[in-house]
Amino acid sequence: MIRFSNGQEAMFFAASGALGFDGRGWWHERLLSKISKKLLDPSLFWAVGKTLTPSLRKGNGWFKAQPIIDWTTFRIVGWVNALGMPNDGCAVWFLEHMRDGLRNFVLSVASVNGDAKKRFLDWEIMMASIAAWCDGLHIDLAALELNLSCPNTEHGKLPDVNEVVEFCRAAKARIKIPLIVKLSVAQDYCEIARRLEKEKLVEAISINSVPWRLVFPDRVSPFAKFGGGGVSGKIAQDHTWDMVRKLSEASSIPVIAPSIWNYEDIDHVMQLGAQAVHFGSVFMASPWFPTRAVRRWNEEQKLFVHSDHADKDPVGRGITIQRWLEKGPQLTEEVGKVFRAIKK
Ligand SMILES: Cc1cc2nc3c(=O)[nH]c(=O)nc-3n(C[C@H](O)[C@H](O)[C@H](O)COP(=O)(O)O)c2cc1C
Repeated sequence: MIRFSNGQEAMFFAASGALGFDGRGWWHERLLSKISKKLLDPSLFWAVGKTLTPSLRKGNGWFKAQPIIDWTTFRIVGWVNALGMPNDGCAVWFLEHMRDGLRNFVLSVASVNGDAKKRFLDWEIMMASIAAWCDGLHIDLAALELNLSCPNTEHGKLPDVNEVVEFCRAAKARIKIPLIVKLSVAQDYCEIARRLEKEKLVEAISINSVPWRLVFPDRVSPFAKFGGGGVSGKIAQDHTWDMVRKLSEASSIPVIAPSIWNYEDIDHVMQLGAQAVHFGSVFMASPWFPTRAVRRWNEEQKLFVHSDHADKDPVGRGITIQRWLEKGPQLTEEVGKVFRAIKK
């Protein structure tokens, strides 16, 4: 669980791109949510909107995303996308949503056009505008995610350590809400985290999809024409989870772990040092899974107990029922009674 400076706590995020531009979901997700909140309940997540840029951006087209299938099991094991951040621009988003009371919504922004100087200038103007729009239109964003690692941009170069720090400084100078920075395995992320921590610039780090060439060095991407695209989901776990572990060791900035593919993954990434998780491409593989996982987690939370040893639990949420069984003798008499009652 991440506790932000505004006092809000977050454990489950819907990653950028998972629930549309406003966190309510793409059309098929809205339909699912209408059918039953048990299938998809957007209110269970801190929804990160799909990334916005300072002005309209066509990207590479909406069909530049496809599943990666393991043909031995006939299962989807990930996703590759080279969408290139199509969006109508930041100003249009604010115009469209100025009357919405978006709950736990995280705006995601990037500046990717032109040379380095132009990108930075665009970024500064965008930060000043966001601050003014939020104030003037009374839009209550939960946080702002700075996407400084999109693998699908035409200049193809990710910001280096100094650039990331500069971008974060510029955001921090204008924006008063918590900042999350989104990084890539292809960046010097440990050094970035150390520098950001030193200057107290961001409150959490999230993780982007992995450039195709790192996951499949010997295979041609279906989106080779667009630089190969970014790979996410189960197939990217080795890369993204290694990053979770190293980041957690490098600084104390909370890490939001990606690539959750089944329920047990949540505990696993927490053991690696993550303090929250996001659901990204799994929303596309099985849109009902994240809701089920969070409901199950919350159910277990209701039943879980803080034993005397809970503070030593690396997962940080005390003990789940399973561990409860293992650690039974440590529990108080009171808790034992509740447990026996449930077991009956
Ligand atoms: C189709 C698609 C679109 C995405 N769009 C964005 C985006 O606009 N901005 C962004 O920061 N990340 C975007 N991502 C990356 C995800 O937010 C997430 O960081 C990535 O998929 C890794 O998480 P996962 O392994 O849990 O899927 C997108 C991913 C996919 C598959």
